[in-house]
Amino acid sequence: MTEEQNLREKGQRRIEWAKSRMPVLSSIAQRWRSETPLQGIRIAACLHVTTETANLVLTLKDGGAEVVLTASNPLSTQDDVVAALNQVYGVKTYARRGVDSQTYYGHIRHALEMQPQITMDDGADLVNLLHSERRDLIPGVLAGTEETTTGVIRLKAMEKDGVLAYPIIAVNDALTKHMFDNRYGTGQSTIDGILRATNQLIAGSVFVVAGYGWCGRGVAQRARGMGANVIVVETDPLRALEAVMDGYRVTAMPEAAREGDIFVTVTGNINVIDRQHLLLMKDGAILANAGHFNVEINIKALAEMASSRQTVRENVEEFRLGDGQRLYVIGEGRLVNLAAAEGHPAHVMDMSFANQALTCEWLIRGKPSLEKKVYPVPAEIDALVARLKLESMGIKLQELTPEQKDYLASYSLGTE
Ligand code: ADE
Repeated sequence: MTEEQNLREKGQRRIEWAKSRMPVLSSIAQRWRSETPLQGIRIAACLHVTTETANLVLTLKDGGAEVVLTASNPLSTQDDVVAALNQVYGVKTYARRGVDSQTYYGHIRHALEMQPQITMDDGADLVNLLHSERRDLIPGVLAGTEETTTGVIRLKAMEKDGVLAYPIIAVNDALTKHMFDNRYGTGQSTIDGILRATNQLIAGSVFVVAGYGWCGRGVAQRARGMGANVIVVETDPLRALEAVMDGYRVTAMPEAAREGDIFVTVTGNINVIDRQHLLLMKDGAILANAGHFNVEINIKALAEMASSRQTVRENVEEFRLGDGQRLYVIGEGRLVNLAAAEGHPAHVMDMSFANQALTCEWLIRGKPSLEKKVYPVPAEIDALVARLKLESMGIKLQELTPEQKDYLASYSLGTE
């Protein structure tokens, strides 16, 4: 068997494995095969090219859509999935792991050539390129969806500046997305990436988590669960207070920098670990980023200060500073869970991608009249995804009795 055949067969087997763990998405695909609600709709998807994404794309295809897929990060692509999508499933996929920035954007440009009616983005790079270079396509776009916190922030900034040219549905903001994917998905897969890259013992380590949003909460919780002594660094007073009451040590980065054995940034902001913090770190400290963009750790400053730089394990680069201090960066400071592991497990992506699929159906079937704004996922979709997920897990929900429904609807009954 040729290498290419091997690759696509591996991809196909892994896509099947993920499918078996995505019952909600599978049930949508099954219904769509007869209903084809997306018949003839062109969708350009810019997502991490993983086995879970493959199942979303195949579901959209089952719904009748024509789909083109491009990567949403240069280091998150699983090449076996690309081979299987292109060669087995007939889905045009522009992606290769480890490409440079020019090639990465070239792939997005190719995807846009299909003249999408719906854009499906993870981080808003496709939407941005469409707004800057392919404005000719804007009249043909009905709407877009956005998968991640960072993308939603960018798109809301575009809306605020009056430059957003078509409506976007913020899939990230669905409760059945961020409460599970961001917290339990990022929590587990970030630790997974760190372990696969370093085989470091977490128990007894000082583990610094910068950012206590949904992702940060998940990472901190899982690190603590493995016996780490977790320090949270946060700029928002409410979130910092929550971290304190969740039982974590909370302090500023200059203090945390001196103590940490392992650092994870998950803030969505720039230079969270900056030059001055790097200089304070212990010899041997491990640095990883779980935020969308590779800007949270100032790797440029680290490279400038380093007297040498070498890859010491797959996905681990050693930077040796002037005084002999060694710092280890995982996956070039890109999303550690996708660069050094496989991303979130299928079980949780099932809910995120069910939201994506059902949002597309609502956009096409419901024909909602939308302005050039960022909108939430309809609450009915969120509730349906939760119900379907519980059902698929065989978990029974207690129903309200008629008396209880009346009680909740009344205001006359008070203290007895
Ligand atoms: N983001 C995080 N994990 C992912 C996965 N497994 N597939 C697609 N996008 C992801």
